[in-house]
Amino acid sequence: MATVPTIALNNGVEIPQLGFGVFQIPPDQTVEATRTALEVGYRHIDTAEMYGNEKEVGQAVRESGIDRSEVFVTSKLNNGFHRRDDALRAFDQTMADLGFDYLDLFLVHWPLPTIDVDYVETWKAMEEIYASGRCRAVGVSNFNPHHLRRLFAETEVRPAVNQIEAHPYLANDEVRAFDAEHEIVTEAWSPIAQGKVLDDPAIVAIAETLGRTPAQVVLRWHVQRGDVVFPKSVTRQRVEENFALFDFELDQGQMATITGLDRGERTGPDPDTFDYVPS
Ligand SMILES: NC(=O)c1ccc[n+]([C@@H]2O[C@H](COP(=O)([O-])OP(=O)(O)OC[C@H]3O[C@@H](n4cnc5c(N)ncnc54)[C@H](OP(=O)(O)O)[C@@H]3O)[C@@H](O)[C@H]2O)c1
Repeated sequence: MATVPTIALNNGVEIPQLGFGVFQIPPDQTVEATRTALEVGYRHIDTAEMYGNEKEVGQAVRESGIDRSEVFVTSKLNNGFHRRDDALRAFDQTMADLGFDYLDLFLVHWPLPTIDVDYVETWKAMEEIYASGRCRAVGVSNFNPHHLRRLFAETEVRPAVNQIEAHPYLANDEVRAFDAEHEIVTEAWSPIAQGKVLDDPAIVAIAETLGRTPAQVVLRWHVQRGDVVFPKSVTRQRVEENFALFDFELDQGQMATITGLDRGERTGPDPDTFDYVPS
């Protein structure tokens, strides 16, 4: 089984660079999908309250027979819980649903800059959660540099990660560079743009040259950029394929070709305007 490299977060906690994402996996398929990923060798699972499958992720991890300390699990605070008291309660609920006594990483899912609750209040609640010792690291998702600057100015704990949309059609290099400058690890969500980049002729050509699949080439590009990735698949053969990234390399020219595909194209919402709160 391939060894997945780890990256040290700014508090020393090590995160496996490759994980398994469970967005859009229906709850009744999540135990099986997570079990498959753990069997293949993944030791990092990315879920969220919003995905509605934390219970099933927790069940699969608890039933796997793998020591809890060997599996890095991330969850996220949903958009309806940005007030301090709601955030603390939501974390308790996440822990109850996962059935864990600690979480590895908890993220604010979206900054929601247009709603009436300030994300700085939310981040102060995350600091309390971190101080409680029940979560090894806290971070944010979909934060732009101007959101992060406010946290730096008004709060104490620096986010350990910033999980943002990134793939060949959305390099998101400005946010990545800001994260790197401030010792925040970037995690790239929708790393294969939900499949949209896999037919790109430049990616297909590199895959043919290397005798790899387009998904492997794109995921390897992320790994060599230094980001954390967690592709989602309910298809065992793809789960295996997406794990086989550590026995080949892209050369500088291949890396530059893929980076050059950037066209600022999002698959998801823009963090500066997204304000969805579930009713
Ligand atoms: N923080 C956020 O706001 C945010 C937003 C979105 C996603 N995320 C996280 O990022 C994770 C990954 O993103 P994502 O799920 O949106 O998209 P993704 O991983 O980029 O793509 C998943 C899609 O690609 C297909 N696929 C997977 N591997 C493949 C392969 N080797 N060849 C061909 N097709 C393949 C899957 O199909 P099948 O499943 O049918 O095989 C699925 O339709 C999520 O699961 C979640 O953990 C976070």
